[in-house]
Amino acid sequence: MWEDLKKDVEALSGRLVAWRRELHRHPEIAHKEEWTSAYVRDHFKKLGLPAKSLAGTGLRAVLKGRPGGKTVALRTDMDALPLQEEGGKKFRSLNPGAAHACGHDGHMAVLMAAAELLAKRKERFKGNVVFICQPAEELPPGGAQLMIKAGALEGVGAIFGLHLWQGLPTGTVGIVKGPMMAQSDNFRITVKGGGGHGSMPQATVDPILTAAELVVNLQSIVSRNVDPLKPAVLSFGTIHGGTVYNIIPNEVKLSGTVRLFDPKIQTLMKKRLREIVEGTCAAFKAAADFEYEEGYPPLVNDPASVDFVLAVVEKALGEENIIAVDPVMGGEDFAYYLQEVPGAFFFLGAGDGTKYPHHHPAFDIDEKALPPAAFLMTALALEYLK
Ligand code: NI
Repeated sequence: MWEDLKKDVEALSGRLVAWRRELHRHPEIAHKEEWTSAYVRDHFKKLGLPAKSLAGTGLRAVLKGRPGGKTVALRTDMDALPLQEEGGKKFRSLNPGAAHACGHDGHMAVLMAAAELLAKRKERFKGNVVFICQPAEELPPGGAQLMIKAGALEGVGAIFGLHLWQGLPTGTVGIVKGPMMAQSDNFRITVKGGGGHGSMPQATVDPILTAAELVVNLQSIVSRNVDPLKPAVLSFGTIHGGTVYNIIPNEVKLSGTVRLFDPKIQTLMKKRLREIVEGTCAAFKAAADFEYEEGYPPLVNDPASVDFVLAVVEKALGEENIIAVDPVMGGEDFAYYLQEVPGAFFFLGAGDGTKYPHHHPAFDIDEKALPPAAFLMTALALEYLK
C-alpha cells in the first residue's frame, strides 16, 4: 500500500535529515523560536502554503485539498532546551546555552516533510490539513493553550502528534489508549531561618538542616499517603542555600515536580505537601513560603483515534512495528489539544544506537526514524480525509 508515497519518502529522506540538522544547529528556547519559525515558514511558503503567525513564534498553515471533506491537524513543537550541548555531533548547536535535546528538531523536520508530501497529493483528497507549529512545549504553561486561544483548532475534526522516543527501537510505534502522559505540576519552597556563625548553631535557626528534613519527610507522601496502586512521583530538582562553609545562611530555596494521573491524588499531594512543609519548618522554628503550580493536565488519547492510528501504522509500517508501552510520568502540552478535539499522540522509536536519554546534554536521535515518522504522519492525514 502507498507504494508511490514510500518512493517519495525515500527520495525526500536526504533533505529530511538536512532540515533536522539545520534546525539542530539553530536551537531556540521557549517563546524565542524566531529563526526556527522563519525557517519553517519559508518551507511552507515554497509549498504555496502561507503560514499565519499565532502565539508569538507559532505557525498555522492550511493545505486545501478538493472542496468539501474534513479537516485534520498535525502538530509539532519547536522549542529547544536551555542547556549547553555536549557530544561530538558535526551539526552541533551554534547557540550557546540552547540545545535540541528532546527531539523537537526532528518533529519539525517530519512535519515539513509531511507538508511537502501532502501538498503534492492535494488533488487526491477532499478536505484540509492544518499544520500546527507551536512554541514552548518545554515551559509550562506552554504554547499549546496560546495556540488554541488564537484559533489553531478552528474547524479541526481531529489532531495527531508524535514524539520521537529514545527509549524505543527505531521505527516502532508506542501508543496508549486513554491516559498516556501524566499531570505535571511543580512546587517551590523557601525555608526561612536565621543565619549566623557555623560555630554557634544555638544562636541560629538553621534552614539547611530544616531543608534536609523536608527533602526526606516529603518522600513519605508517595510512600505512605498515596494509594500504592495509583501512580505518583515527587522529585526535587533544585536546592540552593548558603555561600561559604562556616556561615549558616538565612534561607534555603527548593523546587521540585509532582506527577500523577488522578485528580484526587493531586488534591492529596497539595494538601500533604503544605502540611509537611509547615509542620517540619515549625518543628525547627523556621518559617516557610510554599507555592504549588499546576502544570499540564494528563494527556488522554481518544480510544477511537488510537484504533485509527494503530490501523494506519499496521498498513504503513507493519504490525511488527507496534510496541506495547505503558503510560509515562512525563508531561506534554499536546494534552490541551486533546481536551478540545479527538485525536491521539504517540511515541515513534528513535533509539537505535543512541546512549543518552531525553534532556541529556548529549541527547541524539537515530535519524533513520525520520522517514518512517514522515510516512506515518502523511498516511494519517490521507487516511483520515479518505
Ligand atoms: Ni519533548
